[in-house]
Amino acid sequence: MMKLTNLQELYVEELRDLFDFENQIVKALPKMEDAASSPKLKKGFHEHLIQTEKHVSRLLKIFEEMNLQPEGKHCVGMAGIIAEGSELIKSKSDPEVLDAGLISAAQHVEHYEIAGYGTCIAYADLLGENSAASLLQETLEEEIETDKKLTGLAKKEINVAAK
Ligand SMILES: [Fe+2]
Repeated sequence: MMKLTNLQELYVEELRDLFDFENQIVKALPKMEDAASSPKLKKGFHEHLIQTEKHVSRLLKIFEEMNLQPEGKHCVGMAGIIAEGSELIKSKSDPEVLDAGLISAAQHVEHYEIAGYGTCIAYADLLGENSAASLLQETLEEEIETDKKLTGLAKKEINVAAK
């Protein structure tokens, strides 16, 4: 990683991190959808894939507005969270338990995303990148909403079935 000397450079690094992890999630969600048994959970993963593609395109727009190449920077943190989810899928656990584990994996992803977007919005605000800040805010709100939906589904159905 190159030496960073100001918040603007750190902001670009963080945007590249977001761009990389969103692309990792686009690849992971179809596998999670396949592995899930609950129709509601499958549907949830499917809808979140469509949303995640929107998150990627918002980031593309931000790079374009900054005249930057939309290059990701491999996000090791997200790769680790996704690898844990893949291990779980390979474990051939009982379907109800696997579903509960998939929700846990998905919520780890959401919380990581919420942290990343929250940070970038704070930087964008401070740097006067207002259009980027509002695009990032739209995505952040969708991530928070997804996390809430997952909590509801886990509490009401999925965790109960796994028990
Ligand atoms: Fe996202």
